Amino acid sequence: MSNTYPASDEFVADAHIDAAKYEEMYSASITDPDGFWREHGKRIDWIKPFTKVKNATFDFGNVDIKWFEDGTLNVSANCIDRHIVTRGEQTAIIWEPDDPKAPARHITYRELLEQTSRMANVLKEHGIRKGDRVVLYLPMIPEAAYAMLACARIGAVHSIVFAGFSPDALANRINDCQAKAVITADTAPRGGRRTALKSNADKALFDCSDKVKCLVVKHTGDQTTWVDGRDIDLKAEMAAASPYCPYTEVGAEDPLFILYTSGSTGRPKGVVHTSGGYLVYAAMTQQYVFDYHDGDVFWCTADVGWVTGHSYIIYGPLANGAITLMFEGVPTYPDAGRFWEVCAKHKVNQFYTAPTAIRALMGQGTEWVEKHDLSSLKLLGSVGEPINPEAWNWYNENVGKGRCPIVDTFWQTETGGHMITALPGAIPAKPGSATKPFFGVVPEILDPATAEVQTGTAAEGVLCIKESWPGQMRTVWGDHERFMETYFSQYKGYYFTGDGCRRDEDGDYWITGRVDDVINVSGHRMGTAEVESALVAHEAVAEAAVVGYPHDIKGQGIYAYVTLMNNVEPTEELRKDLVKWVRQEIGPIASPDLIQWAPGLPKTRSGKIMRRILRKIAEDDFGALGDTSTLADPSVVDELIDNRMNRA
Ligand code: WTA
Repeated sequence: MSNTYPASDEFVADAHIDAAKYEEMYSASITDPDGFWREHGKRIDWIKPFTKVKNATFDFGNVDIKWFEDGTLNVSANCIDRHIVTRGEQTAIIWEPDDPKAPARHITYRELLEQTSRMANVLKEHGIRKGDRVVLYLPMIPEAAYAMLACARIGAVHSIVFAGFSPDALANRINDCQAKAVITADTAPRGGRRTALKSNADKALFDCSDKVKCLVVKHTGDQTTWVDGRDIDLKAEMAAASPYCPYTEVGAEDPLFILYTSGSTGRPKGVVHTSGGYLVYAAMTQQYVFDYHDGDVFWCTADVGWVTGHSYIIYGPLANGAITLMFEGVPTYPDAGRFWEVCAKHKVNQFYTAPTAIRALMGQGTEWVEKHDLSSLKLLGSVGEPINPEAWNWYNENVGKGRCPIVDTFWQTETGGHMITALPGAIPAKPGSATKPFFGVVPEILDPATAEVQTGTAAEGVLCIKESWPGQMRTVWGDHERFMETYFSQYKGYYFTGDGCRRDEDGDYWITGRVDDVINVSGHRMGTAEVESALVAHEAVAEAAVVGYPHDIKGQGIYAYVTLMNNVEPTEELRKDLVKWVRQEIGPIASPDLIQWAPGLPKTRSGKIMRRILRKIAEDDFGALGDTSTLADPSVVDELIDNRMNRA
């Protein structure tokens, strides 16, 4: 038995959902999903109300997922217009800039309506119509929120590319979704430094159709190049545009956004989320999982470039009429107290971050936390990877002062919102466990080899989901086959998460990490294949194999085995050059932590690299390598062990 931490009686008394209500609602959501979601689908405003609720099949070859399919709505109207009468003057977004000395901004719902409308009108003027794709490559500034909501307002589909990605990565995404426009900014301040976003966009657009427009937010005023006829001064045009833009009616199943994410093979996939089900699910999880109450200040520290930012900075909170905080900076600038300074300054009530950030701050000592008044905090959240007990305890004791429930939320880009998580008033926290499924979620643990469903309470295997839920992704942009192949082919009849999982004797779920070639570095999801293909694109590299290994702060680090071309000398210089190369090809988040020169890689006789062996060596755990007899040349393994880079 592990320790559990129930919320205080006071918290429970005030919570939206207590234990009895969770049982009752969860059971209703499973026994009668149509009835349950018919009711909860009404939490958003529909233009034409839906009559159909769930229509989904996970049958491989036939996968088709629809929710509320005959309803129509507008997501931007749900996030803004419907709050105007009751809370037009309430803050919608608190914006905290990178520079702590610069003023924070409080953007009311009324102002959000005006700015979003102005931007929507500019987009329309440049020919963006319903269904067109617009790529956003922006810092964490209010314009990022306006841009998302402006696209939604006119029925355009946004695809945000994290501002840390390279020009190449940006170009690939613009081309894959055939975007008509890119919205970017001159430069992006982060941690006192500036990323030249516009110049990256210029490089990317070099590889794209010359019809793609570039709308530029002059944010810092830094100088950039300017291409007449292509580049548009967005703020100037917004100022001249009409302050109101009527919203466009879209179908529940019309796409709201595409977000590229890494899988185990090939290029990143465009995960498609649609309008109705996604919004219902994002809003409902934001309210219940964080026990959000009217007037609370909610802070999710993610970047809008990731799904967490989509669902829990923008769509979920704003659909609920919440006050959401958007932070431009980083946790360690100007010092390791910045998160807590911001919590104190804006009286944050719910704080949601990733274990990697907690571990990084933990290493800086508790004095940074103690300096600031954290008495406004009511609840803490964690997302992105399993949270280790040390980080959990530190978070609980130093930030939550032992009085804030902690919700460990397991979910994915593909799931749109939380899947397995404690509900703070109902389910006691258990450090390291995501605990119980959210309403409508039916997790099953399958044996990875036999695909047999594990029926005992205590079980271990791979995590699959048996029934559709409203926030689920609908397809891979432009490639429904790939969608089915990736998520529905391994375990027939189920959505496969790609994660390993254990269920304990209390029925609580523990995510044990990815079972495929996806790694999770500082909460950023990456396919090892992407890093490999960047490495082999370097002229000195003949072959590369990339695996994850345990890293104290990042969770996982990137370990690359590199075989050089015949005539190339392995030097320290080259090692640095390769790191720089990968940063350029993908972005800084993909920088290899360790590069081992590998004269040979362990391969089967048919030429398949045995990654299991490479993972073990990278983990510095090569005692039990298992059967290596199928290797074409078993001696390469000894060589790799002798020269391994990660030694305890
Ligand atoms: C991992 C982020 C354990 C998991 C929202 C998943 C987690 C991948 C947790 C998705 C958690 C996310 N506990 N593991 N609370 N949350 N993961 O798409 O491996 O960036 O498959 O979505 O992160 O990462 P993604």
